[in-house]
Amino acid sequence: MPKYRIALMPGDGIGNDVMDAAKIVLDKVGLDAEYIPTDIGWEFWRQEGEALPQRTVDLLKTCTCALFGAITSMPKEEAEAELLPELQGKGLVYRSPIVRLRQTFDLYMNLRPCKAYAGNPLNYRDDIDLVIFRENTQDLYAGVEFHPLPEDLRAKLEEHSPNMKAFKGTASEDIAVSCRILTREGCRRIVRAAFEYAKKFNYPTVTLVEKPNVIRETSGLMVREARKVAAEYPGIELWETNVDAMAMWLVKNPQNYGVMVSSNMFGDIISDLAAQLVGGLGFASSGNMSDTFAVFEPTHGSAPKYAGQYKVNPMAMLLTVKLMLDWLGEFESAKALETAIAAVIAEGKIRTYDMGGKNTTLDVAHAVAEKM
Ligand code: NAI
Ligand code: MG
Repeated sequence: MPKYRIALMPGDGIGNDVMDAAKIVLDKVGLDAEYIPTDIGWEFWRQEGEALPQRTVDLLKTCTCALFGAITSMPKEEAEAELLPELQGKGLVYRSPIVRLRQTFDLYMNLRPCKAYAGNPLNYRDDIDLVIFRENTQDLYAGVEFHPLPEDLRAKLEEHSPNMKAFKGTASEDIAVSCRILTREGCRRIVRAAFEYAKKFNYPTVTLVEKPNVIRETSGLMVREARKVAAEYPGIELWETNVDAMAMWLVKNPQNYGVMVSSNMFGDIISDLAAQLVGGLGFASSGNMSDTFAVFEPTHGSAPKYAGQYKVNPMAMLLTVKLMLDWLGEFESAKALETAIAAVIAEGKIRTYDMGGKNTTLDVAHAVAEKM
């Protein structure tokens, strides 16, 4: 029996292109692993009414972790229109498979490293080395949403919050509500993950990104829990920031930050901002992790206009493979892969279009594999 069972979920569009690149590098790494191709994505929505079939969930339960490419997703009405005729009008609702994976496997940590590799012409500065921990299961992404606002719920809200007065003159069918839900434990565990990481890799600070001056209850809970967790790590300072100010500071002096932590929505936004400082979607890797399972994915989507052309930059995917190797405890392989990636970037000979080059996705993967 191989040591690891790793599910490969290319998904849609360029998810397939970059998964082919990942395979080239994984071949070179030579892990003691079985790789299992897995069904996920738009085709399964169209033909079965489920982008993440139950058989995939069952299979994932037997795996060590999963490597994911990208999926195409669309708003409700457009998704319904794409279903096979016999599946239409049955009330099937498109659900994002990646959000579902996060919820099903309680993948509460979203790890988003943003590191500037020397020689990358897309770097905003060359001294950026950020690691963002984004809470991945709660907040506005919990999917507790209403439109129209149900009358009984409206009555309850009016009973409990005087601020509902502001909406007095608006009909319920003209009100949409999305609930921001954070739990004490949800706050605690993501902050703790950030502090553990800071401790392990000797970062002097953890920066919390919230908005407690306005969103008093949810951001307030996060801040209070973060302070309690921080008290357990005397050598590491907690910096409390507001998300709007953070957006400016990340542009002004990103080199001042190391480990950052935030709730789902704000974490989503600042991690995209940070990713652009070090090369954008072609370089943005991520891991969705629980304490026992993980799904690794480049941050980019399926970029339909480039699908199957092997034009896009696989660096995001290759850095994602590096994250996976770290998570598996294969530190030597992870280091060797990162060093090879850094060498190819520094040399500047093999580059995809986004870096000003003309090479293909697979050229880059082969160049990295050769350096290993
Ligand atoms: P996208 O990330 O797919 O692409 C946007 C643009 O970024 C591309 O047209 C391309 O110019 C550039 N780009 C993306 N990846 C690149 C790479 N590796 N190298 C070089 N350039 C790259 O985002 P878009 O167009 O908003 O969404 C397309 C589809 O992907 C949609 O259906 C969307 O819902 C889905 N999506 C899926 C995600 C996921 O699977 N986690 C995340 C984001 C979007
Ligand atoms: Mg995002």
